Amino acid sequence: MNIPVRLGVLISGGGTNLQAIMDACAHGVLKSSAVVAAVVSNRPDAFGLERARRAGIPALYADTKKFTSRTEYYASILSELSGHGVDMVCLAGYLLKIESNMIDAFAGRMVNIHPGLLPRFGGPGMYGSHVHQAVLDARETVSGATVHFVDGEYDNGPIIMQGKVPVLPGDTLEILAGRVLAVEHAIYPAAILQVIQGLAHR
Ligand code: GRF
Repeated sequence: MNIPVRLGVLISGGGTNLQAIMDACAHGVLKSSAVVAAVVSNRPDAFGLERARRAGIPALYADTKKFTSRTEYYASILSELSGHGVDMVCLAGYLLKIESNMIDAFAGRMVNIHPGLLPRFGGPGMYGSHVHQAVLDARETVSGATVHFVDGEYDNGPIIMQGKVPVLPGDTLEILAGRVLAVEHAIYPAAILQVIQGLAHR
């Protein structure tokens, strides 16, 4: 039997995707393939930190103001992740840009989820409700979510998995966001499993 891959999850907010990953590790598609080893937030009030603590997972608030550069900030996070034996990083509603020292340390082992069908509706400023508003404004009939590897550009790395949902007449931003979020929760654990299986064959 393989040793479970140790995930480090970076968040900025509510952490429903983190919850989906923790649930999948406990009793879903990631059971015996992965464990969440540490959760890091750039915001002290991110509810995802509380979700992690309730599950007995180390949860850390990393305050950017304590560091003079983003490179130092990520060096500190890297050291924390290393202390928890993290093998792979999952960004789950994490809103800060990742610096090259962090990207290099987890090349091919860092993934992100985006609430739109990349390569459209991505890039700087395209996060959360901005994505859904742009989809509605463009009168798209299909939206969805994308899990992709992280590189130095926003929402740019190779795509691992996508899930689609319809955009229905009368959809509000909130309704569409909720429909997309449900597909995020389904595809993120599945995409992580796919990456883990790929790592095992490298
Ligand atoms: C999700 O829509 C995710 O795609 C985006 O931010 C949102 C985070 O939601 N990057 P949550 O914190 O996982 O609930």
